[in-house]
Amino acid sequence: MVAAPQARFVTFEGIDGAGKSTQARHLAEALRAAGHEVVLTREPGGSPGAEEIRRLLVSGAPGRWSAETECLLFTAARRDHWERTIAPALARGAWVVCDRFADSTRVYQGAAQPGLRAVVDRLHAEFIGREPDVTVVIDMDPAEALARGLARASGENRFEERGLAFQERLRTGFRALAAEFPARIRLVDGARPAAEVAAAVRALMPLP
Ligand code: TMP
Repeated sequence: MVAAPQARFVTFEGIDGAGKSTQARHLAEALRAAGHEVVLTREPGGSPGAEEIRRLLVSGAPGRWSAETECLLFTAARRDHWERTIAPALARGAWVVCDRFADSTRVYQGAAQPGLRAVVDRLHAEFIGREPDVTVVIDMDPAEALARGLARASGENRFEERGLAFQERLRTGFRALAAEFPARIRLVDGARPAAEVAAAVRALMPLP
């Protein structure tokens, strides 16, 4: 797949409840208002097959899958999402705004078990082979974010149920990833009114 020159691939990342879905929506609306074609999508999910895999991943007991099995399921969902939604959109020149992508697997599954990060990177290289143009990490205090995440009562709380200490490890993981890839990953302080966060996000966009 070759992306058209005006295509852009933007991902949002962060701990549970940090407000990334809201920010992804705000950005998609702003880009559409400026006349761009935008595909707003999410992971796990974003294609019919990947949404089916999502149901297996986000509900049920926290210990339902091992971290290794999760790596495979998230990668399988991502491959379907990539083939059916993301790659075709980039090929026709659209912006793709995606709520979570491979950095979530690096951080969530990598945080669950040391050593898995290398496995995630190998799976990504083999089956996806593309990083976003820009990744926005919405950075947020885990206690505040956790309270917001659980308050949604979506029935999709398998990861939130691992508790505050896990969310703190995730925050550390996302910050470390931002330091590792400073050209691609930008941290945005999420502890501000949503409109302020949205303006900070827009300022980071590689507009054509
Ligand atoms: P969401 O709540 O942002 O829709 O994401 C669902 C959950 O799945 C969330 O707790 C993060 C987790 N997750 C991973 O553990 N690894 C991944 O690769 C992705 C995409 C999500």
